[in-house]
Amino acid sequence: MSKIPQQIIPIVIILMIVVGSFIAAKNIFVPSSFGEQGHFRTEAIQENMDLEQVYAGADACYDCHDDVAEIKSDSYHKGLSCEVCHGPASQHVEAPDEFIPDAPRGRGYCPLCHGYNPSRPSGFPQINPERHNPGKACMSCHDPHNPLLPHAPEECSACHQEIASVKIVSHHATLPCTQCHTIEKGHKTSPKFSKAHKPIDNSTCAYCHEKGSTIKKAAPKINVELHSDRYLCWDCHYPHYPEAF
Ligand code: HEC
Ligand code: HEC
Ligand code: HEC
Ligand code: HEC
Ligand code: HEC
Ligand code: HEC
Ligand code: HEC
Ligand code: HEC
Repeated sequence: MSKIPQQIIPIVIILMIVVGSFIAAKNIFVPSSFGEQGHFRTEAIQENMDLEQVYAGADACYDCHDDVAEIKSDSYHKGLSCEVCHGPASQHVEAPDEFIPDAPRGRGYCPLCHGYNPSRPSGFPQINPERHNPGKACMSCHDPHNPLLPHAPEECSACHQEIASVKIVSHHATLPCTQCHTIEKGHKTSPKFSKAHKPIDNSTCAYCHEKGSTIKKAAPKINVELHSDRYLCWDCHYPHYPEAF
């Protein structure tokens, strides 16, 4: 009997410390307005309302800069708000002569969206800022409010840079894209309306790889029918970087 209380005393003390520090922590760390409106800190609403408003919104610019707005509304940049590039400008709207927003004229700015990055969607206009007309301001060739291309890109890689940069280090480096793809006239200027076509059957590959083919001696030859069975070649080989496993 005498052993039981001896064991309980430290347990009770530990329990009291745990409960005590929990209550203390709740009072110190949990903000007072938490819980007034459910699982939420009510004061947060007022704190956000008190923040100074720095963005005016695109509509606010149209009153005075309708010329710029009109050009932009029909351009590739129609989806971009003015303040994306010019920065927060509500002070400028209130006092246009006192606060003049910055215009991002440096070469570092546009590549934030247009610098080559393989995670961007295929076909998004991307350039390598080091190689794309270095030393000149982007604005000397592209109007930021209506960014038309001075002429259509000549290279498929201008828009399909990811595929091109994979292919260039592959066994297929020497093959032009048009070896396997046909493009409709106009694909380079309006790719969404003028399509490009992908190979539809194994004959595209058999042209060089079929046993007995005299095209491209360097291409390893196979018995296409036996080798591919009923599958498409690109079910097993990535055409832009083919490997023989
Ligand atoms: C009440 C009229 C008014 C409104 C609204 C207004 N602006 Fe302006 N803005 C002006 C005037 C006037 C100037 C010319 C100031 C000067 O050069 O002295 C100007 C100049 C500018 C410039 C030129 C800077 C440069 O480097 O040349 C930019 C950029 C600009 N505004 C952007 C905006 C944006 C973005 C908005 C919307 C958020 C906006 N403005 C709304 C009147 C306005
Ligand atoms: C893609 C970025 C971008 C967007 C979006 C943009 N601008 Fe600009 N804006 C610029 C750059 C860069 C310049 C400087 C152009 C130069 O120096 O040739 C500029 C210049 C200006 C100027 C100075 C006069 C002129 O026409 O060159 C005004 C005013 C202006 N922008 C207003 C606006 C307004 C209003 C909007 C929204 C309707 C807007 N901008 C959207 C990048 C942008
Ligand atoms: C916030 C991101 C963003 C910024 C910053 C931006 N752009 Fe763009 N740009 C776009 C989008 C989105 C498109 C449309 C892409 C599409 O339609 O597929 C585009 C399209 C373009 C095009 C392609 C037009 C065509 O014919 O294919 C050019 C050129 C261009 N922008 C130049 C510029 C320049 C120069 C600047 C700097 C002043 C700039 N962009 C800043 C997002 C941006
Ligand atoms: C000397 C003129 C010149 C300068 C400077 C210039 N570009 Fe271009 N840009 C072109 C031409 C021409 C094309 C058409 C494609 C080609 O021939 O490379 C183009 C194409 C583009 C494209 C579209 C590529 C595609 O895949 O559709 C983007 C985006 C672009 N430029 C952005 C920029 C940016 C950002 C800068 C500044 C860092 C810049 N350009 C500077 C002339 C220029
Ligand atoms: C101006 C940019 C641009 C240029 C230059 C360009 N393409 Fe495209 N391409 C695109 C875009 C954007 C798409 C996606 C179209 C869509 O979503 O319907 C695409 C799609 C494709 C597709 C896929 C079609 C599909 O059904 O999935 C192929 C293949 C293709 N392009 C091949 C080429 C070849 C080959 C060249 C060079 C001869 C080329 N492209 C030049 C922008 C371009
Ligand atoms: C050896 C033949 C061959 C060559 C060369 C080739 N492609 Fe392809 N490409 C294909 C095949 C086959 C597909 C279909 C792959 C699939 O459906 O899985 C394809 C698919 C595509 C697609 C659709 C999207 C994707 O990734 O599947 C695009 C875009 C494309 N190719 C662009 C290009 C460009 C740009 C080049 C030149 C840099 C090129 N191709 C060179 C055979 C080729
Ligand atoms: C115009 C001729 C040509 C066409 C069309 C062609 N290839 Fe090739 N391919 C070659 C050549 C040349 C090589 C070998 C290059 C080297 O290694 O020097 C090669 C190599 C290969 C290899 C071997 C890679 C290795 O690791 O040894 C495979 C797999 C392959 N191609 C698959 C394909 C597929 C799949 C297609 C159809 C989508 C195709 N090829 C279309 C010319 C072609
Ligand atoms: C079911 C998967 C599969 C399909 C479909 C397939 N291959 Fe292959 N391929 C392989 C494998 C695995 C290897 C490596 C082992 C071997 O040589 O059999 C290979 C090797 C190759 C080689 C290299 C042969 C050598 O001697 O170096 C070429 C070229 C090739 N394939 C072309 C093609 C072509 C062209 C097609 C379409 C007609 C195709 N393959 C379809 C799986 C496939």
